[in-house]
Amino acid sequence: MGKQTKYVSPLPDASGQIRYSDAENAIWAELFARQKQAIRGKACDEFMHGLDLLKLPEDRVPQLGEVSRRLKRETGWEVAYVPALIPFSEFFALLADRKFPAATFVRTREELDYLQEPDIFHEIFGHTPLLTNQYFADFTHAYGKLGLAASREDRVYLARMYWFTVEFGLMRKPGEALRIYGGGILSSIGETEYAYNSDQALRRRFDIVDALRTPYRIDIMQPLYYVIEDLRQLFEMTQQDIMGLVQQAKRMGLHAPLFPAKGDAAAA
Ligand SMILES: [Fe+2]
Repeated sequence: MGKQTKYVSPLPDASGQIRYSDAENAIWAELFARQKQAIRGKACDEFMHGLDLLKLPEDRVPQLGEVSRRLKRETGWEVAYVPALIPFSEFFALLADRKFPAATFVRTREELDYLQEPDIFHEIFGHTPLLTNQYFADFTHAYGKLGLAASREDRVYLARMYWFTVEFGLMRKPGEALRIYGGGILSSIGETEYAYNSDQALRRRFDIVDALRTPYRIDIMQPLYYVIEDLRQLFEMTQQDIMGLVQQAKRMGLHAPLFPAKGDAAAA
């Protein structure tokens, strides 16, 4: 956040609609078709169910209003237009108001497989299906409220909690196979395969204090994923004194990074 980006989110017109070009709609259609295929048998049931409920268009970029209408019916959530990057304070304020911030630009064809900035495919396809689940929706709402009240320093810790759940979370229900629920994974063709199948990636049982203490990088495949048992676990976590656990994580210090420092040639 606060970083430079080449992308600009197109603004809705007076009727609340955003006009997308044929080329942008074609990119959405291609991303949708191949990602739907890629996540089959890998995404958690709740995500797949959410995808059914939202009835996202497959051949064109959805309008935020149509997604909001369906989402609101399920859990009271909406999606809200934001420019590509927004300050933390605005991000938390939106979540605390049950509005999921969504950038509206579409990635270019050159960045079809990977881009650092969240585009509309990441926001809508990756994040909104799980917001139809009440446990997950309530967890995200509680997270927004905590972040809004937190100090700048504590927000950095909370951001790690979000990263290792909402963005890059894995799930394994007792007696069942591994599943993906993180939107950062489920909107990425490469990371879907890697997070699910790579024998290089570490997959550890989710522990909130551990997650708060784990550094991450946004520009590489994640070396480590945390695995929850089910979405209810996220909701139950919000019944704990999370800010107290942040203080505990601070006292304990960060875990050693599992990746080379940024700028290191090996990290390219
Ligand atoms: Fe995201």
